[in-house]
Amino acid sequence: MATPGQTEDRFFRQIVTSMRNGVLAISREGRIVVLNDEAYRILGLKRRSDDVGRHFTEVLRGLPDIVRMLGTVFETSLLPNRAEMRLEAVQRVIGYTLSHVLDEERRQVGAALFFKDLTQVEQLEERERLRDRLAALGEMAAAIAHEVKNPLAGIEVMAGLLRRRIPDSPEAQGLLNDIISEAKIANSIVVEVLEFVRPIRLQVQPTSIQQVLHDAVTMAESKSARGQVKVSVLASEDLPPIPADHYQLCQLFTNLLINAFEALDGRGKVWIRAARLSSRNGGGEGAHESSVEIEVADDGPGVPEGFADRIFNPFITTKPRGSGLGLAIVRKIVDAHEGRIDLTTAPGKGACFRITLPAAAGEAMSI
Ligand SMILES: Nc1ncnc2c1ncn2[C@@H]1O[C@H](COP(=O)(O)OP(=O)(O)O)[C@@H](O)[C@H]1O
Ligand SMILES: [Mg+2]
Repeated sequence: MATPGQTEDRFFRQIVTSMRNGVLAISREGRIVVLNDEAYRILGLKRRSDDVGRHFTEVLRGLPDIVRMLGTVFETSLLPNRAEMRLEAVQRVIGYTLSHVLDEERRQVGAALFFKDLTQVEQLEERERLRDRLAALGEMAAAIAHEVKNPLAGIEVMAGLLRRRIPDSPEAQGLLNDIISEAKIANSIVVEVLEFVRPIRLQVQPTSIQQVLHDAVTMAESKSARGQVKVSVLASEDLPPIPADHYQLCQLFTNLLINAFEALDGRGKVWIRAARLSSRNGGGEGAHESSVEIEVADDGPGVPEGFADRIFNPFITTKPRGSGLGLAIVRKIVDAHEGRIDLTTAPGKGACFRITLPAAAGEAMSI
């Protein structure tokens, strides 16, 4: 039968063994007294049955930072508390506290190191820093874009003035026209960059999809050559107004339509279909109770092979003068509305972008 003292001893040992901190304790002579499982794991050591009792310099031979620290532990009374250390040998960062082990007469009979693996915390912080950096980059891009807009407008205006001054030189007229159209392209890229980097602040209000689609068609026609392309809009009667930002949605569908016009190059068809989806008829798991689905499809050449899964990323373009930001902005707006976007496409079979946006749960919206 174990005496109460022995039971207690065992319990203390079990506490240390099961601790979620690494624990490493040495005696005054430098022999290992405790090295728990977590310590083995963090320090990347293989357990040997005779580790307890061996000198710490042998057991921790591969970890010079810790050996150095323990080597002077009995020479100082000021020990690190909640400090951090990078263990180069195992590529880990630990947070640790070092204490003297005192007996009843307060004599130093050993030393104990308590530590935790901070590598993951470090990685999270690193990610946080990266996010900050990207935000700063976005601000910088916005600032530059803003500064570039004015000189560009100046170039356009002055070239226009010059064009009027020299009406009799067709050659100069041609060059000036080129200057003006180049300045216009540069300006539209700047506008897109601004739209992409600016954080979206939605002005949510009951929004009519029909109205959005109507405005988007008009806007796309003014920004891109529609040519002989036929556009048909089919919106079902029971389409409810949805909580959304009218301006942002216009932007979204304008970008999709501009891409369709560009893909069709003056010939073909674009269909826009909008319908209400309730969870019963296939909203799928995780879908909002009631949502609206809008498809923008064309019968053009389809998204070039190998690009379909990347075109929503910024700066992915197959056009010589493309910015690759149109669909990145589309996705940003869809995300801000907590919606979804999918693409179906095949070479020669056109492209179909399907957007699902949540409708108000209560249906009690009125315009
Ligand atoms: N309707 C479409 N048909 C075919 N390809 C498309 C269509 N819409 C987008 N794409 C492809 O996706 C790419 C990215 O589009 P986008 O982000 O708007 O940038 P950009 O229009 O500046 O190239 C385009 O370069 C094109 O290859
Ligand atoms: Mg585009």
